[in-house]
Amino acid sequence: MNKKITVLKGDGIGPEIVNEALKVLDKIAEKYGHTFEKDYVDIGGASIDKFGVPITAEGLERCKNCDSVLLGAVGGPKWDVIDPALRPEKALLKVRSELGLFANLRPTKMFGQLKSASPLKETGIADGLDLMMVRELTGGIYFGEHKTFEENGQTVATDLMLYSESEIERIGRVAFETARKRGKKVHSVDKANVLDSSKLWRKVMHRLAEEYSDVEYSDILVDNTAMQLIKNPSQFDVIVTENMFGDILSDEASMLTGSIGMMPSASLSSGRLGMYEPIHGSAPDIAGQNIANPLGTILSAAMMLRYSFDMPKEADAIEAAVDAVLSDGYRTGDIAGSDEGIKKVSCSEMGDLVCSKL
Ligand code: IPM
Ligand code: MG
Repeated sequence: MNKKITVLKGDGIGPEIVNEALKVLDKIAEKYGHTFEKDYVDIGGASIDKFGVPITAEGLERCKNCDSVLLGAVGGPKWDVIDPALRPEKALLKVRSELGLFANLRPTKMFGQLKSASPLKETGIADGLDLMMVRELTGGIYFGEHKTFEENGQTVATDLMLYSESEIERIGRVAFETARKRGKKVHSVDKANVLDSSKLWRKVMHRLAEEYSDVEYSDILVDNTAMQLIKNPSQFDVIVTENMFGDILSDEASMLTGSIGMMPSASLSSGRLGMYEPIHGSAPDIAGQNIANPLGTILSAAMMLRYSFDMPKEADAIEAAVDAVLSDGYRTGDIAGSDEGIKKVSCSEMGDLVCSKL
């Protein structure tokens, strides 16, 4: 198959980790007889420096005209001080909304080999953990009106959290359909004891729960979810939640597995087009040192093959290669943990090792 990938390397460690994922994709192409054509588009600070905006209209068009988008990470201290409307993160939100990527899948899986890297290792509670966070990605407080204004002699700021029934229903369906293919259990996370948007969320989810009666359904408040993720994370199969709750909870969940550097994500539209990126940020503190963990991005590339390109065999091969490299004891710094016999490797060595297992 011939597929066109728009590549957004971004800032900080973005270019380093994306290069490793591209190496792995090239290896897959060679082995399985595919062609992955790449189109490189600047995003975030890299685009601000060149064009004065975090993504150009033309760059955005090129993201729409491809089979899928691969993203590294955006942002850094250099651009923290500029006009908020031009910040690197704005580009990411723009791509998500313009491409209609409303469903963000964040698998949280414990790699047994990395147990010693998890701060919860002694407790054993995260052993065998395998949950899927389904985060709504194009609505809620991220996309409601943001305003800062003067009132009674002081500055006031507001961000609006808004959801329509149809937005809730479509993400709910993704969660229930996902659960059907996994452990058949959905927890819908909200703050219905306080927020109207959560009350509506819960009402729509209850309607869907009746329709998907083969899936076990529970409501759970977001604060309780934060606690339960640490207390007993194995009770969860699929967690579905609104944009900001999902942002926060997915970072929390990632630590159960040892490192946020391992975590991939897929952002999907109602069609085939998706964007694939690790859930971590641009880590400016370690950028340019070739020490970042590329596995979250490499596993995101595997998700791209599975969800956008219908290449489950190839996706499985990448995941198995990552597993094999970890079993051989190779680790980047963030996942080095305290086990004996660990071989510390650089970002590019890790990419090479994954390729060698393919
Ligand atoms: C994420 C990130 C982004 C988000 C930032 C960079 C805007 O934290 O993908 O989780 O908040 O969605
Ligand atoms: Mg986040």
